[in-house]
Amino acid sequence: MRIDIVSIFPEYFAPLDLSLIGKARSSQVDLAVHDLRQWTFDVHRTVDDTPYGGGPGMVMKPEPWGLALDALNSPSAQIIVPSPAGKPFTQEMAASLVPADHLIFACGRYEGIDQRVIEHYGATEVSLGDYVLFGGEVAVLVMLEAIIRLIPGVLGNASSLDEESHANGLLESPVYTKPPSWRELDVPEILRSGDHGKIARWRRDQALLRTASLRPDLLEKVWPTLDKRDLALLAEAGFASPGADVAE
Ligand code: ADE
Repeated sequence: MRIDIVSIFPEYFAPLDLSLIGKARSSQVDLAVHDLRQWTFDVHRTVDDTPYGGGPGMVMKPEPWGLALDALNSPSAQIIVPSPAGKPFTQEMAASLVPADHLIFACGRYEGIDQRVIEHYGATEVSLGDYVLFGGEVAVLVMLEAIIRLIPGVLGNASSLDEESHANGLLESPVYTKPPSWRELDVPEILRSGDHGKIARWRRDQALLRTASLRPDLLEKVWPTLDKRDLALLAEAGFASPGADVAE
C-alpha cells in the first residue's frame, strides 16, 4: 500500500516510525509525508486566506493543494480529508481501506480547505468524532493506526483481531492476567477453569452486557443477529429490545 500525507506540519508524523507501524512501513506500507509549503511560490509561502462571505479564521487556498494533489495523485488513489464535517470514521471504514493501493491524506488547518479542492478530486471528508481538533494531523495518525494494524501480517497474532472491540459490533469483554488475586480483587473463577466453552459464553455475556450499558447504539445495530440465549441474558439484566419503548 502506498500512503502519502500532505500537511503544513510534517513533524507531527514522527510517531509513524515507532512500534508496529514502523515495522509495517518497512515491509507492507510505503509511506511518505510531504510539506504543503513546497507547493507555494511567494516569499511568505502562503497557504491560507480570508473566507469569502466573512466569518472568523482563515481558509486553506486551493492553489497549493491543487499542485500537491496533481503531483501525488494516481489512478487508484483515494483522497481523504480529515474534517469534523465528514463521514464518521469507524472500524468498518478502516477495514474497507485495507485493500486500497494508494491513500492520500490531505490535512487541513484553520477553518479547513477550500471546498473546490474536495470537489475537484472527489475527496472523502472523514471525521474522527463529534469534536473539533486544531487540524487533521492527529486524525490521520489515528486513522492510519486503525488501518495499518488490519493489514495481514502486521499483527503477530491475527486472531487478536477476531475478538477485539468493534470486530463483531460489540465492545470486548474485560481481560485479566496474573496474579489471580490483586488488592483483594479476584480474576473471575470461570476464566481459570480451563472450560473453553464456558469461557467463550462468559466472554460473550460480558461483551453483551457492557455494550448494552455503555453503547446501546451499537447493541441496537446487532440486535437482529442475537440468539435466544443472548436475548434471555439481556432481558434478565433489565435491557429490553431497543425498539420496545418506541413501539407504542
Ligand atoms: N479536524 C478537526 N477536527 C476533526 C475531527 N473531529 N475529525 C477529523 N478531522 C478533524
